[in-house]
Amino acid sequence: MKKIGILTGGGDCPGLNAAIRAIVRKALRNKWVTIGIKNGWKGLIEGDMIPLTDHDVSGILPKGGTILGTSRTNPFKNEEDVGKLIKNIKKFGIDAIVAIGGEDTLGVALKLHKMGIPVVGLPKTIDNDLSGTDFTFGFDTAVSIVTEAIDRLHTTAESHQRVIVVEVMGRHAGWIATMAGIAGGADEILIPEKPFDIDEVCNNIKARYKIGKTFSIVVVSEGAKPRDWDKIVTQTKEVDEFGHVRLGGIGHLLGEEIKNRLGVDTRVTVLGHVQRGGTPTAYDRVLATRFGIAAIELIEKNEHGKMVALQGNKIVPVDLEHAVSKLKTVDMDLYKIAETFFGR
Ligand code: F6P
Repeated sequence: MKKIGILTGGGDCPGLNAAIRAIVRKALRNKWVTIGIKNGWKGLIEGDMIPLTDHDVSGILPKGGTILGTSRTNPFKNEEDVGKLIKNIKKFGIDAIVAIGGEDTLGVALKLHKMGIPVVGLPKTIDNDLSGTDFTFGFDTAVSIVTEAIDRLHTTAESHQRVIVVEVMGRHAGWIATMAGIAGGADEILIPEKPFDIDEVCNNIKARYKIGKTFSIVVVSEGAKPRDWDKIVTQTKEVDEFGHVRLGGIGHLLGEEIKNRLGVDTRVTVLGHVQRGGTPTAYDRVLATRFGIAAIELIEKNEHGKMVALQGNKIVPVDLEHAVSKLKTVDMDLYKIAETFFGR
């Protein structure tokens, strides 16, 4: 019999509950016990745990958020916290931890693995920026939400002959902007991977006017920046425990520039956390479920220090070391497809 601790860390995303349910149900098949660690690594430091039985995961599959709560706590910011965390693993008799998270949460998982603690990771983030996996769960839902928003903005932009700038999430990688931009027929997509030229953006919008298209949709990732600005736009100077600033504001700055340079009626929509909330798509539910099952299978084989990943249509283990080694940025061949439609 094993006791498996489950935690969700970092920003929430749709599909977390589907993953928790799968881990618990698969563990139960082995007659193992599962325990929920509250609010990411914070719960392990504080010993804040809840039992996770079959009954506790009933009905959570379609629910957004995470029943375990989440935080951006980094135990390695403070040696004392690492000590407390290790003590609690022993105190609660946890044999292995399943950490569901993005680069920060899985970065902590890797450090713990190196200290000899049995850990397996599950890749989640709406940003889709983890290496080693084709997709993270949460991303498909975010893309669907943004695509629907672009569709809605299209009709109002067209009616009023406006430029609408849509700011979407994506700190270091513009996956959401690129995929939803292609799906929604955006007229310009600006991403962190490719610093942009405001003149070029304006020229593309002008080109559309010339061919009789009197409205444009510009999708911009929160982490995108103009070529001649030295900094990305942030909301505050504060950083979280992993050193990340809170991004946001590029949409409004860009909207102002477009309005001033072209003299066209311009509006800005910042989609924000709407992209992370609510029920997961069927794709994300299935992916999260497959990941959850695979995580328990890895623990059965004592294969720790791994992250379950999607490669092609197969779920495979990859080293946590590889998963967090560098961020997976947008495939430029995909971006080129999007570019075909700029200014048209
Ligand atoms: O990491 C996922 C993400 O959604 C980023 O795209 C975004 O910059 C960040 O989280 C926002 O985090 P918070 O929930 O702290 O506002």
